[in-house]
Amino acid sequence: MPEMPATPAVCPSLMSADPLRLGEQVSALLDAGARVFHVDVMDGWFVPNLMLGTETTRGVAGLARPRGGRVDVHLMVESPREAIGWYAPHADMISVHVEADPHPHQLLSEIREAGCLAGLAINPGTPVEMVLPLVERLDYVNCMGVNPGFSGQSFIPETLGRLGALRDLLPPRVAVQVDGGIGPANIADARAFGADLLVSASAIFGADDPVASYADLAERVASA
Ligand code: DX5
Ligand code: ZN
Repeated sequence: MPEMPATPAVCPSLMSADPLRLGEQVSALLDAGARVFHVDVMDGWFVPNLMLGTETTRGVAGLARPRGGRVDVHLMVESPREAIGWYAPHADMISVHVEADPHPHQLLSEIREAGCLAGLAINPGTPVEMVLPLVERLDYVNCMGVNPGFSGQSFIPETLGRLGALRDLLPPRVAVQVDGGIGPANIADARAFGADLLVSASAIFGADDPVASYADLAERVASA
């Protein structure tokens, strides 16, 4: 089982990377110190969008892993059970949505059995207490800051309180991830409320200089 990456960590979300320059952008972010690359997987059913397949994930893993980078796969799909097996060879961490399947205990065990850290993702409308019965099988909780499906959405402000509640509910070994709407205006707050893994897509890749934007976010987290 891989170790949890060093935290706090800013995790570039590759759904907003330039698909024709993906390798170049991942390499530049590795040079800048990024070590956790967030790969959003969307099936057009659980969320209204289609995103990042196994071959792209394999390519990112091949580039990032030899340099100490990790691949964090966020499954936003209606049938996560099958997808775990498809993505696990190219992933170090996999999160599944508690809303997607009535048997999250089994899914989390299958993620670990597949050799990855197990994450549970929760939508903004899902009570944080849902994670409690699953704590023993969890390595991280992905607390969504937006309703999943698209990058560039506004951060839902109640998420900060949810991060704090999760940090209080969870043992220290379970990392808290925040995903969606994170940028320079709120990343320090998200860190201060307890987020260990801070995912960002549009704030990094929507900038003229993604590396400079990543470095700025990492600096804000380090001094939060
Ligand atoms: C949203 C995805 C996020 C997304 C974040 O459904 O899960 O990972 O890439 O995008 P931003 O940072 O632009 O909100
Ligand atoms: Zn995501």
